[in-house]
Amino acid sequence: MKFFVDTADTKEIRALAETGLLDGVTTNPTLIAKSGRNMLDVIAEICDVVPGPVSAEVAATEFAAIMREAAVLRRIARNVTIKVPLTPDGLRACKALTSDGAMVNVTLCFSAAQALLAAKAGATFVSPFVGRLDDIGHIGMELIGEIVPIFRNYPNLKTEVLVASVRSPLHVIDAARLGAHVATLPPAVLRGLFNHPLTEKGLAQFLADWAKTGQHIAEAQPAAAR
Ligand code: G3P
Repeated sequence: MKFFVDTADTKEIRALAETGLLDGVTTNPTLIAKSGRNMLDVIAEICDVVPGPVSAEVAATEFAAIMREAAVLRRIARNVTIKVPLTPDGLRACKALTSDGAMVNVTLCFSAAQALLAAKAGATFVSPFVGRLDDIGHIGMELIGEIVPIFRNYPNLKTEVLVASVRSPLHVIDAARLGAHVATLPPAVLRGLFNHPLTEKGLAQFLADWAKTGQHIAEAQPAAAR
């Protein structure tokens, strides 16, 4: 399963990229607004740090305008993924863009029927929003449980299910159980995946026992050299 980070905070992205576990980045207009920076500068900086797909969302809603914005965004870097809304114009743009070799992430997906349309439009990724479904009393993860098997029925569909609006490590585990290709995680959720109290406790014990030996591995000499 691929891990993307869902943020436009380049400091966070740099730190998480150092873990070597980051496969891509997603942004949206809300996250760009939160960064307080120029969108093109932010996307260019992210694309420099992360070689994988970096989603940059269009703000236009009408086909010709989406295509104009996509042209600007595609010029930033080769790993820019154009993010379009799941609307008739968005899907028309998706088809045109993917036919022209661009990567496209279709966002704001809330039903299996919508996901199927995105796949038919040739989307590279479709983003079902699980957290926002949970927010209104639906079990968001059930949508992933519908979409993944539907896509598996049609091996010629290359669209990857990108689980978005992720709120907790549990969402990530459930998405992986269901076979989603990608999850995009807020930085705090991604960091949270590392944590387990028994890991911390076990490490503290190992370090305390090791200190008693008085040994230092980095300065140690093999028997032959002693
Ligand atoms: O970028 C799309 C999605 O991940 C947004 O998440 O938390 O605003 O519902 P959220």
